[in-house]
Amino acid sequence: MNAEDPLFRGRTFDDFLFTPQRSPVLTRREVDLSMPLAAGLSVGLPVIGANMDTVMGEEMAKTLALEGAFGFLHRSRSIEEQASQIRYVKSRHSYVIEKPVLLSKTATMAEARQTIHAHKASGILIEETLGSGLLAGILSHRDMPLLRVGDDRPVTDFMTPTARIVTRPPNVAMDEAERVMFDHRVEKLPLVDADGRIRGLITMRDLKLYKQKPQSAKDNRGRLRVGATIGATGDFIERAHALIEEEADALLMDVAHADSEVVEKAMAAFRRALPKATLVVGNVATADGARRLRDQGADAVKVGVGPGRGCRTRLETGAGVPQLQAIREAWRGVEGRLPIIADGGVRSDKDIFLAIACGASTVMLGSMLSGTDEAPGIIIEDPATGQKMKLYRGMTSPEAVADAESAESLVEALSTPAEGQSVRIPYVGSVVGILHRVRGHLRSAVSYAGERDLASAHAKIAANPAGFLIPLSDASRRESFVR
Ligand code: XMP
Repeated sequence: MNAEDPLFRGRTFDDFLFTPQRSPVLTRREVDLSMPLAAGLSVGLPVIGANMDTVMGEEMAKTLALEGAFGFLHRSRSIEEQASQIRYVKSRHSYVIEKPVLLSKTATMAEARQTIHAHKASGILIEETLGSGLLAGILSHRDMPLLRVGDDRPVTDFMTPTARIVTRPPNVAMDEAERVMFDHRVEKLPLVDADGRIRGLITMRDLKLYKQKPQSAKDNRGRLRVGATIGATGDFIERAHALIEEEADALLMDVAHADSEVVEKAMAAFRRALPKATLVVGNVATADGARRLRDQGADAVKVGVGPGRGCRTRLETGAGVPQLQAIREAWRGVEGRLPIIADGGVRSDKDIFLAIACGASTVMLGSMLSGTDEAPGIIIEDPATGQKMKLYRGMTSPEAVADAESAESLVEALSTPAEGQSVRIPYVGSVVGILHRVRGHLRSAVSYAGERDLASAHAKIAANPAGFLIPLSDASRRESFVR
């Protein structure tokens, strides 16, 4: 496929509208927005939190996943801290209780009552001996005598013993757990390994609560999905191992200029160390760059050189490709067969749709998510106007470099002059509000594009953009966007 597309040369988001098509959509709520983030990994809302220290922390990662989106934790911190952030996200809002409260067989019913009360549990797992973790039985609410008779008797007199308990291995899938609990009419399903040791607990109550957030991005054990970033030099393999150990769902090898020998070597080393891990690589801005990353084993390619709000690369070096042209060329470079993350330059919701219509699968957002409660950093109030703001900064801005905690990021950043800057972004409350707005506008755009789901709109327009896009004159741009 020829990578050159004259329609897009020198063009970006505000250079186009698309022609409205006859809509088959009955209600916009039904419009499905799921898209692949990388080979084998899809998201319900194609929004990816940028791996920047004023955008992504644990709270942002958790909230994005709960809303069906995804985030990559940044790498400007120690390996241990980054790993513990993944642990945090993975332990939120899960239907598997990874470390259930245990009592030993010798405990009395009085102790059991007290423990159940203290943990607001509806029952408790009993282990053979204190600290052994070997499942001996379950004591549930129904096993407790109403009158406090027998408070001094051991729990073994009342519990259901292991022989009569249904269990499953720790990696049981959510659907199977639900089926087993329904078939056996049980409220609790202990997860037990081959040696009979307790590895978790699923309760019907948690399962029901969990299903109330059906759009959330979950792994096959029902835990929230989260990604994390590595570099291409220094301790990046050690970091990658630590992040995969914590079961990060995807790693992002992120450097400013990924079409490089450094990245080629790093990817080869990565693939030797972790052949099966999901790896996103970026950034590139050309067809050749995207194709090379695909051929070197990337599961998705991140595209964008210089469009970011906190970015000074184009101003300082003159290097860069207008973002919609870059997306288009990358799509042609990988022949539409590998997901592309369009990174940077998105200022309004229509840009997200255009990026996806022209070839991206998902869009990475920095500044648009940074004025929210979930983004790290404090709210600053302008004493003169009373306007509330949050600070957003490029990762190579002097401020972000000074705060970097990982030696690798620091050395890398200090080796070149700043190509990033800080800006103040209006404070807008929770990121949930932004995602709600983006979801609504994307659904509308899909309807205007004459499709029932975003993937179909992407497939149709990316295959023939000239049939749908209208290049704008200065006058039509003013008519469209100036209010
Ligand atoms: P937006 O426009 O969403 O862009 O705020 C987010 C993206 O900007 C990139 N980024 C930088 N680019 N110097 C750069 O040249 C920097 O210091 C810098 N910091 C972030 C990055 O790709 C991010 O996802």
